Amino acid sequence: MSAHLKQDEPDTRNLLDDMVQGIIGKPLARPDGLGKVTGTAPYAAEYPIADCLEGVLVTAPFTKGTITGIHKDSVLSMPGVVAVIDDKRLTARAAQGGAGEAPAQPAREVGYFGQPIALVVAESFEQARDAAKHLTFEYRAENVADVPLDPEKTDAEPQDGATRQGDLAQAMSTAAHSVDVTYTTEGHSSAAMEPHAAIAQWDGNSLTVHASLQMPNYNISELADALDLGEDQVRLIARYVGGGFGSKLGISEEAVAASIAAMELERPVRVVLSRQQVFQTIMRRSETSQRFRLAADENGRLTGFGHEARVSQLPGEHFAEPVLQSSEFLYGGENRVLQLEVARIHRMTAGSVRAPGEAVGMPALESAMDMLAEEVGIDPVELRLHNIPECHPVNGLPYSSRKLAECLEQGAEAFGWDHGPRKPRQRREGEWWIGTGMASAARVHNIAEARARVTLKPDGTALVETDMTDIGTGTYSIVGQVAGEMLGLPMDRVLVDLGDTDSPRGPGSGGSWGASSVCSAVFVACEDMRATLAKKAGVSVEDLKLKDGGVIGGASLVELLDGEELSVEGHYEPGAVEDDFTASGYGAFFAQVRVNRFTGETRVDRMLGAYGFGRVLNAKTARSQCLGGIVWSIGAALTEALLFDPVDGHIANCDLAEYHVPVNRDVPDLEVIMVEERDPAASPIQAKGVGELGMCGGAAAIGNAIYNACGARVLGFPMTPDRVI
Ligand code: MOS
Repeated sequence: MSAHLKQDEPDTRNLLDDMVQGIIGKPLARPDGLGKVTGTAPYAAEYPIADCLEGVLVTAPFTKGTITGIHKDSVLSMPGVVAVIDDKRLTARAAQGGAGEAPAQPAREVGYFGQPIALVVAESFEQARDAAKHLTFEYRAENVADVPLDPEKTDAEPQDGATRQGDLAQAMSTAAHSVDVTYTTEGHSSAAMEPHAAIAQWDGNSLTVHASLQMPNYNISELADALDLGEDQVRLIARYVGGGFGSKLGISEEAVAASIAAMELERPVRVVLSRQQVFQTIMRRSETSQRFRLAADENGRLTGFGHEARVSQLPGEHFAEPVLQSSEFLYGGENRVLQLEVARIHRMTAGSVRAPGEAVGMPALESAMDMLAEEVGIDPVELRLHNIPECHPVNGLPYSSRKLAECLEQGAEAFGWDHGPRKPRQRREGEWWIGTGMASAARVHNIAEARARVTLKPDGTALVETDMTDIGTGTYSIVGQVAGEMLGLPMDRVLVDLGDTDSPRGPGSGGSWGASSVCSAVFVACEDMRATLAKKAGVSVEDLKLKDGGVIGGASLVELLDGEELSVEGHYEPGAVEDDFTASGYGAFFAQVRVNRFTGETRVDRMLGAYGFGRVLNAKTARSQCLGGIVWSIGAALTEALLFDPVDGHIANCDLAEYHVPVNRDVPDLEVIMVEERDPAASPIQAKGVGELGMCGGAAAIGNAIYNACGARVLGFPMTPDRVI
């Protein structure tokens, strides 16, 4: 059986609130937690597969040019070496973040330092690694002096979809208060803990790949395409994924290389990228340069809003960091210019890294807003509250549920925000200046088509199957909670089976759409199943109250099923409702920092995030996503930056020793407030995206606190000591 829902209208039924099992939203522990902390949950590279060969990628040691010859003989006689795969498809990967894009780099053409050119396969990993180091090849490299590498020194193409409304220049020149400022952000790496890894097995007709992927539902067609196979010949398995943060949205080199090798050699092949390769080969977040022109009246009401940004990308690749995304609808200002432009340079492919767009757009915007608050002479919280528009400032669409004001107010209250006049350098303790700062959060709400099969077994347990992934986010928990709530089953009677493309297509984990999309498919299946159960119980579906495995005061599910098995595939599709509302998650950040007056070192003393993202499905996993977001904010504010060699564009800090993500010492006690909200336009379960919202704007709260502490207005992230001092 199957059930389908296309959401064309807001869903105000609030069904999940009427259920009686009482597990939706509860902070339940993850069913997968024990396996993960005891090492029994297998990640992609950890499947014990007999007779498995090991492959190590060889990457281009130059920036732009052509590989003219690979001398396989140079390593084939080395111990254990089985093959050198230099198939041209190795370089033929789909663009990260753009579904179905043609590969940008034609065969053997190298477009960035670190691009894969061959795979060396051997009996052991050490043998493969040794041979990979000794493989010789010939290439013709272009003179790097002629290769565009610096986005600021390269012509940029304006992107379509710009907003031009009213007369911003006029609004700026007549404004009571205005700010015209340019902020920069540096490149970022997803830096997921689990490196990219794949084990491919070929049986002569079909390919099975254990891989670390966010989107098996989509990766299956990418891989089939790359290998010229039918989708029915490919099976992807990704039951546990150690973080992705965008870097595993698209299929990447290790999976393609392992598959080609397995098909050619007719033995299983494992490819695990080194940490350096993950940094250098997969993709980066583009650096950005963002000019803001904000015009306001005496009260701080925006009359003009300009956000013009430059990002970079390899020639031919489609994705452009969408930094303007939330600027389009967050604040008012009738005279508007929003324009994105892309400089084509030969740094590694730019792609989606955690909250593409807002992760860097919001911190820059919220820094400029802090400057405007100072210009106007009002409390920065007030400035935000004054500028929440009635409807979308350009297309006039209504907002779906929006808790921005509540987040600002509840966050300020809990943080103990001083609404009085603000001046920098007011508080010093020894060698530390102390200050506070705040910022709004916003991240567009995304939702995707999803399928999930729910099976109620004669023994009264349920099984949920979908190829959806859990990338550390808590999918196993929330999928089980939605099914359990709808069917009246405690969590230990719901088995959730994820990450196998033999199951119905889920939405994949990306863009923070995973939870609301996959749970909507589960919801649709269970709603259909409840109708069947009501009929069996002889009650109307409205009166069906299921709890702890049966009808309250009536038959158990085992009795109702009477030996039968019920199975429904739920299919959820976003519909017209998407076009009728401006839907987004919102929030507010508050931070207190101390800045060393001699060294410019910044430490975050405390930080708070208040968020509204619709229905909370699991208070523990949702809160953990928010905490993770605040940690990302600390990294973005203070330390994280890819450093590109100015001569050849290679990344100089290719590991976690040199690319500085926050560690325990950098993260103080964090507080998370989840504002009560239901968003009927966002999804049938009234939930919105959580994870990425957690960081969108947070770095500005820290930057604004740095200014408040010591008076240094640093116009770029990260605000490293050399920039602050
Ligand atoms: Mo996300 S950066 O769309 O995984």
